[in-house]
Amino acid sequence: MSREAGSPLLEEENIKPDTRHGVILYVEDVSVSFDGFKALNDLSLYINDGELRCLIGANGAGKTTLMDVITGKTRPDVGKVSFGQQVNLLEMDEAQIARAGIGRKFQKPTVFENLTVFENLELSLHGDKGIWANLFHKLSGEQSDEIAQILHTIGLVGECNMQAGALSHGQKQWLEIGMLLAAKPRLLLVDEPVAGMTAQETERTAELLTSLAGDHSVVVVEHDMAFVRSIARKVTVLHQGSVLAEGSMSEIQSNPEVVRVYLGEETGE
Ligand SMILES: Nc1ncnc2c1ncn2[C@@H]1O[C@H](COP(=O)(O)OP(=O)(O)OP(=O)(O)O)[C@@H](O)[C@H]1O
Ligand SMILES: [Mg+2]
Repeated sequence: MSREAGSPLLEEENIKPDTRHGVILYVEDVSVSFDGFKALNDLSLYINDGELRCLIGANGAGKTTLMDVITGKTRPDVGKVSFGQQVNLLEMDEAQIARAGIGRKFQKPTVFENLTVFENLELSLHGDKGIWANLFHKLSGEQSDEIAQILHTIGLVGECNMQAGALSHGQKQWLEIGMLLAAKPRLLLVDEPVAGMTAQETERTAELLTSLAGDHSVVVVEHDMAFVRSIARKVTVLHQGSVLAEGSMSEIQSNPEVVRVYLGEETGE
């Protein structure tokens, strides 16, 4: 179904982040307060195009709030957030930010349980045109290929015709990642993806997220340090709403401040 002529959506579809400097996301001097409490405190962070970044930090450090700011759910009091060098995310609402190419995976999967895996993907391929487009629109060959490719990426080829409700917890999480991929995001934000997963599912998720980097930029928040170790290239540690440290996993693990305020807690693991 076509959109009305003159719709601002048409312009948005052309939004392309300018990544000539290699950076897909700029977060600069951002602060967010809730009733005087600073959940984010003068936070600056840069995500490179195509990188897989892990974000760690104690409960309440501000990780989810940062994702809320990037996706337009929470407005910062001050600071700058841009997609590439020029697309100012602070002037866009949540739907516009999603359409511009930033996908977010929440902890709880929100797949349609009564539809098959294939139908779930088909629905997200049609994006905001939604279920009506699905009823009246046959998939093009290109779209079928895209779904086949996504099924392969998320490892659910064999489950293609299964009802999503019958999938395991881990498989539902992968399906949801697949549904995000259908929108062709440039940047994916993934909050605690392996919570509640079996060891095998956790390992498979590590492979999946690692395989997405390169074509996508991926920011992963996780408390499971074994998982973080298995995928981490560069790690950012948040503490009380600011960046405490940034570097490779071994740099982070040998940083005395990080050990004191965060990793120290994990030694009983
Ligand atoms: N809408 C809100 N209203 C009031 N306080 C909030 C709100 N959202 C977050 N906070 C507070 O901001 C701080 C940061 O919360 P946030 O959820 O970002 O932490 P987090 O790093 O994601 O923690 P966790 O690891 O537990 O998920 C916490 O102290 C939290 O209670
Ligand atoms: Mg959180």
